[in-house]
Amino acid sequence: MTDNDKEMDLFSSIDTASVQKKMEQLAEEIDRLNYEYYMNDRSLVSDQEFDRMLRELQDLERQHPELASPLSPTKRVGGEVNKSFRQVEHRFPMLSLGNTYSIEEIEDFEARTRKLLDGEEFSYTCELKYDGVAIGLTYRHGRLVQAVTRGNGAVGDDITLNAKTIPTIPLRLRGEYPDDFEARGEVVYPFDAFDAMNRQREAEGDEPFANPRNAASGSLKLQDSAECAKRKLMFCMYFMMGPSEEELPPTHSGRLEWARQMGFKVQPYIAECKDIGDIKAFIDHWDKARWDLPFGIDGIVIKVNQTRLWDKLGLTAKSPRWAIAYKFKAERVSTPLESISFQVGRTGKVTPVANLRPVWLGGTTVRRATLVNADFIEKMDIHVGDSLFIEKGGEIIPKVVGVDLEQRQPGAAPVHYVERCPECGTSLVRVEGEAAHYCPNLDGCHPQIIGRLEHFVGRKAMDIESLGPERLEMLYRADLVHNVADIYDLRREQLVGLGADQAASIQDKGADNLLAAIEASKQVPFERVLFALGIRYVGEVGAKKIARYFKNIDALMAADEETLAQVEDVGEVTARAVSEWFADERHRAIVERLRVAGLQMSGLWAEGGGVLDELTFVVSGVFSRFSRDEIKADIERHGGKVSGSISGKTSYLLAGEKMGPEKRKKAEKLGVSILSEEEYLQMTAEG
Ligand code: IVH
Repeated sequence: MTDNDKEMDLFSSIDTASVQKKMEQLAEEIDRLNYEYYMNDRSLVSDQEFDRMLRELQDLERQHPELASPLSPTKRVGGEVNKSFRQVEHRFPMLSLGNTYSIEEIEDFEARTRKLLDGEEFSYTCELKYDGVAIGLTYRHGRLVQAVTRGNGAVGDDITLNAKTIPTIPLRLRGEYPDDFEARGEVVYPFDAFDAMNRQREAEGDEPFANPRNAASGSLKLQDSAECAKRKLMFCMYFMMGPSEEELPPTHSGRLEWARQMGFKVQPYIAECKDIGDIKAFIDHWDKARWDLPFGIDGIVIKVNQTRLWDKLGLTAKSPRWAIAYKFKAERVSTPLESISFQVGRTGKVTPVANLRPVWLGGTTVRRATLVNADFIEKMDIHVGDSLFIEKGGEIIPKVVGVDLEQRQPGAAPVHYVERCPECGTSLVRVEGEAAHYCPNLDGCHPQIIGRLEHFVGRKAMDIESLGPERLEMLYRADLVHNVADIYDLRREQLVGLGADQAASIQDKGADNLLAAIEASKQVPFERVLFALGIRYVGEVGAKKIARYFKNIDALMAADEETLAQVEDVGEVTARAVSEWFADERHRAIVERLRVAGLQMSGLWAEGGGVLDELTFVVSGVFSRFSRDEIKADIERHGGKVSGSISGKTSYLLAGEKMGPEKRKKAEKLGVSILSEEEYLQMTAEG
């Protein structure tokens, strides 16, 4: 080393040391602000100031990646991609709890415990049973090292990257802490964040999640941790354990209190109870008060508070004898039926909907609930002026489960189904063997016309984004668009200035964009064109299968019902609907015009040359972007084969969520590669 080099080296090490110091200071300050914000609801600086600090740290980390800490608060933003969720064995098995819906069984549990602990001084804790996804967090020397889902209790998925994005999961602990321990708790999806996320999904044409629990579970398994960061999940800690129990406080409540001081979000709703009376009072209170919480709970967990007694009580086959869960029953209310609306869909199908006196149920106000069809109304024996029982279990959508007969008015008449279309007055028809009524006035019934147009331009169909419902309505009223083929005859001069005083009005630029989007839709593949036509019973998957089978529209139009029924998953009813649809002159004329306009009326499918040629897949578990059938169809569309069981011939096990551990074991034993949904999508991505 020359003197000069030495000097440089010295400079750079001073420089490195000061950069490192700066990074640590920033990280510490951001951690502190995060803590105050999420744990104490206190905002100590403006959002801009916070973002500025975060960006400064991000920039430094980019310039000096070797100095970036894996526990930096920048990890909260996500960005790293989970290649696969490695399976890890739990150091301590994640047991489940015995649970019951019956208060008597809680009384039995209490009496049994008291008897087994004969003469001991002890108490119980009652706390909320969070309705989410259980995870275990391992901390060493005050630092988060691993986050694992419950899985089957023995083995779970490593979701550390995603867990780091959850602000209520501390990355570094504060104050004193045991050197090595595991924090367990539930990841929940708070109601307001869940609603916002679902509304956005619907706006983007994605299937909304059924309930916050499913959504939380799906979020933890997102490949892209930045996506998970956007989900606004929350961690509720409820348990602490370690290899050396002596290091931990002697009571469960004491452990949770300590955890709070370390920086965990421990909900304050925990009570120490001395007897069954206290326990019942806690349960009663939360059975009603639970809907005021910002997140879902599905019961109450009762634990013996003194941890030294846990060993004494021991375990049953799979759950500890020192704890039990009381589960709340699905909430049910009775509310008056004010009227029934009959909604007409794009296929002319009529759906009766109950308009209810607004009632608070399961965290939201319920105003409407479906009455399914005429048979449902008859089976429930609904009378005019009845009050209906509405239930909401784990699901978000309320269900009518019966009539509150005590409220029935004397002399009330049974509800009669409408005979005429409430929109256009045409007599409804009910096809033999089908439950639904239909309005046959295809061309003159407003919701059918607009509904078909909306379906046609939808994201999963022709995807003409600039044609929203308002614009379609406007074009219809201006006599420019009556059916889907009219869209392709639109001219610039017809569009400019249209609807001058409306939000959906069209200006020069808007007209150009709209025409460009319409033009682009001509490249949409045949299978989606077929779906876009809106033939009854032909969904996205059905359209794919039919398109693949016939390969072009002429072969399809020439097919009789019998041939149509040959297509996989196409039953008699669908075959008849397709055949009748194409038999209608009006439909043939539209198809002809679409063909002339340049839409794709045929497709090429891998018959050799597909990306998955020669590959055999076994599909297992639940997927986020496909149903099981859809993913199988997708494999076939790319030239692959689907088989039911894993063997030496299997190329890949395509693993969704909730796949059983045996499948994985078998695949590993036979050396079959395991593929995640995301990896599959990459493998088949076009281009
Ligand atoms: S204690 C060995 N406390 O309910 C005791 N569990 O079967 C470990 N849960 O999957 C569980 N809230 O994820 C405990 N306050 C709470 C809980 C809770 C929700 C979940 C837990 C487990 C299930 C019980």
